[in-house]
Amino acid sequence: MRTLLTFAPLAGFETEVLAVLAADTQTSKEADAKPQPTLLTDDDAVLAAAKAVLASGEFKAGLNESVLLHAPAGLAAKRLLIVGLGKQAKISADKVRSAAGTAVRFLKPRGLHELVFVLPESDPKNLPLAACVRTAVEGAFVGDFDPDTYRSDRKDQSIESFTVAAPASADKSALNAALAEGVILGESQNFTRSLVNEPGNKLTPTILGARAAEMASEVGLGWEVHSTEKLHELKMGAFWSVAQGSAEPPTLIVLRYEPEGISDGPILGLVGKGITFDSGGISLKPGENMEKMKYDMAGGALMIGAMRAIALLKPKVRVIAIVCATENMPDGKAQKPGDVQTAMPFSPDKPGKTIEIVNTDAEGRLVLADGLTYARQLGATHLIDAATLTGACVVALGHTNAGAFSNDDEIWTKFDAALAASGEKFWRLPLGEEYAEQIKSEIGDIKNTGGRWGGACTAAEFLKVFVDETPWIHLDIAGLAWVEDSKPYIAKGPSGIGVRSILEWVRSYSS
Ligand code: BES
Ligand code: MN
Ligand code: ZN
Repeated sequence: MRTLLTFAPLAGFETEVLAVLAADTQTSKEADAKPQPTLLTDDDAVLAAAKAVLASGEFKAGLNESVLLHAPAGLAAKRLLIVGLGKQAKISADKVRSAAGTAVRFLKPRGLHELVFVLPESDPKNLPLAACVRTAVEGAFVGDFDPDTYRSDRKDQSIESFTVAAPASADKSALNAALAEGVILGESQNFTRSLVNEPGNKLTPTILGARAAEMASEVGLGWEVHSTEKLHELKMGAFWSVAQGSAEPPTLIVLRYEPEGISDGPILGLVGKGITFDSGGISLKPGENMEKMKYDMAGGALMIGAMRAIALLKPKVRVIAIVCATENMPDGKAQKPGDVQTAMPFSPDKPGKTIEIVNTDAEGRLVLADGLTYARQLGATHLIDAATLTGACVVALGHTNAGAFSNDDEIWTKFDAALAASGEKFWRLPLGEEYAEQIKSEIGDIKNTGGRWGGACTAAEFLKVFVDETPWIHLDIAGLAWVEDSKPYIAKGPSGIGVRSILEWVRSYSS
């Protein structure tokens, strides 16, 4: 998708579709108060063309509601698309993101390939122009993605060009920079989604490693992709305990972002769960919906996509990403419930913790345990991990908020601020000694499940053992990594959740 920025008057655009935004400006709370759809532009030609439909009452400017007019009078554009942002008082740059996605997804099935998207009138408080340019472009990329990669009858309905129209008075260089950022973020989020979309047979741990390496070379990241030998060399007993049951070798993917001239300050460690297929292992999952467990590498894919964005946006802080990739399979060599494993030692005088395996389906925390230890060994001063870790988190928060945990309020405050910029929803859940109590083992140091209650919290408490005192955030994205029902602005399938928030969080450490 080509992206452009224009400052020309709207009436003259010769384009397939000119898209404008509308909000409901009705402020009365009376039951019989009708919606008041109002265009967010003061371009007279566009206002005149839309007048009749706005007066008709057919279009209410609800969020992502759309109406298409053909041959709009007085405009050179062939069509005028109006997309609603909902109540005027609640509009934000986030809603512009979904409106842009909605516009793109409105065009695709109609075989239309180009769009001029008119920015709303600037409202410096709720709708700063640069933020809107960025979110519009992000939304357009996200909307343009469809997961039908392997369909023989796949028609290429992708959008060829997306032009953002801004008022002539705008700060052109600021908006150009915002556009470039939007492209990087949108493409990186889609890169993550394309990885998550791949089925287990097409994206083995080895192939995930190769895809990460290829991307890293393209954008100038340092990288290493290790396999079984390195796991043994590092004594990654927890990671290996999952990998031992699979015919596919595991990969330990390391991506390094080392900006020139930055030799001190924090080193941010990004750790991702990369289970390319989770059958549950010997504690086999039920067959129903098991096919979805191809997305159990979404945490890893998110870190890989975030590293792409980091490499291109160049914050002044060192970042290292570690993805522990393996399948979780039942096999004669697979680990069994009751087995005791020894996690990776941090150093010769700090031996690895022993883990009693109660359920081989609680594998994510095992691979992350060694990933977190390795990140610390490589010098990470701040840690963040992401994983499709627990069904319990989905039960708690549904598909609306992802779960988040932290052992440190300072690092959390920074992440919370990043959420405001990214528009992604994460909800902080508690850690605590009572949860730690639930995962104490009689035979070893800890066990890998704490029973049914508080399953997301006991999983987080398990990970906490392996971060030691390092400030850390854990993101449980099990409920959000896959969009269950298509929405006007995003296809059913992988969401790419987390890429934008991690990027913003990393930037907040830039010196
Ligand atoms: N990958 C799953 C968690 C999951 C569930 C992700 C649903 C996405 C949607 C994870 O490895 C798992 O199986 N967790 C178990 C843990 C339990 C055995 C303690 C779970 O949540 O049931
Ligand atoms: Mn599992
Ligand atoms: Zn899993």
